[in-house]
Amino acid sequence: MKISVIGAGNVGASTCYLLIAKEICSEVVLLDINRQVAQGKAIDMMQASITLGAKTSIKTTHDYQDIENSGIVVITAGVPRKEGMSREDLLHINIKIMEEVVLNIKKYAPNSIVIVVSNPLDIMNYAAFKLSGFGKNRVIGMGGILDSARMAYAISKRVDTKEIKALVIGTHSEHMVPLLSQSFVYNQALKDVFDEKTCGEIIQETKNGGAQIVKFLQTSAYYAPAASICTLVEAILNDTKSLLPCSAWLEGEYNASSVSIGVPVVVGRNGIEKVFELPLTKEETKSFKESVNSLSDSLAVVDKYLQNTNY
Ligand code: NAI
Ligand code: 2OP
Repeated sequence: MKISVIGAGNVGASTCYLLIAKEICSEVVLLDINRQVAQGKAIDMMQASITLGAKTSIKTTHDYQDIENSGIVVITAGVPRKEGMSREDLLHINIKIMEEVVLNIKKYAPNSIVIVVSNPLDIMNYAAFKLSGFGKNRVIGMGGILDSARMAYAISKRVDTKEIKALVIGTHSEHMVPLLSQSFVYNQALKDVFDEKTCGEIIQETKNGGAQIVKFLQTSAYYAPAASICTLVEAILNDTKSLLPCSAWLEGEYNASSVSIGVPVVVGRNGIEKVFELPLTKEETKSFKESVNSLSDSLAVVDKYLQNTNY
């Protein structure tokens, strides 16, 4: 299968490298408006793949025609927030980028499954779903896999085993909902493994996982995001029916409608094959509702933009 990655920045390039190093697919197309950067990184990766003996080919481009026949398109294009820029200003810029990217995917890869990574994740996934007109199974937001990895990492620092399962739902933002009732060490729910204080610390470290990296690097994470994207890609390609937390369009599940937000979904060859409704505690249900509500201002901005541009 051919996979296209839109945006050859830190996340896009790291994803591309992992896809070729793991030989997950036959061909990767790396597209960026800045062709020189994409080309430079691709040459470096091709040289690496010779040493690794990897067979996946890479093509760099700024021409959307090259994404034709892609089975999966990963969107990592976007611009970060700059000094003096409000969230709304950033949203306006990133919706326009999303519009350009999604309309080209619609034109050149109309049967693909789209994985949205660009931030603000749940808002961008909502916009991509609306702009594409694709079925809700074919527009998947990647955020919860990364947040769950961060929660598992926070747990791993406190126990001497790799038998850890962590699950984070809700928005890919400070309003995320790390689930103590659905996260386990040796199949034991976290609240039975740790005291309340430690559980609170784990939740805080999970929520702070991205910001902590930004503090050190002055830019956001890319290795773990790339690994999370690859997990999603492999679930699709290998039809694993894995249960993964992804931003998905909801129609009543978890008492939410007409939003895209992180929930556990079954991922297989058709993308999101099912939204999996896990039992949540009262407190988790309340936090999830707050997480849904936190999206409303930004969704209103997107809706207005889509209305003004006749979508
Ligand atoms: P980056 O700034 O390194 O790369 C972004 C790339 O997008 C740049 O190479 C830029 O030239 C390209 N680009 C901008 N406009 C474009 C357009 N119209 N068409 C094609 N390419 C375009 O940023 P980075 O670190 O790679 O992050 C990418 C996005 O992913 C950001 O929005 C970031 O916030 C988000 N992100 C999301 C995560 C998640 O878990 N969902 C995790 C990490 C990052
Ligand atoms: C992260 O969580 C910024 O979404 C990015 O690292």
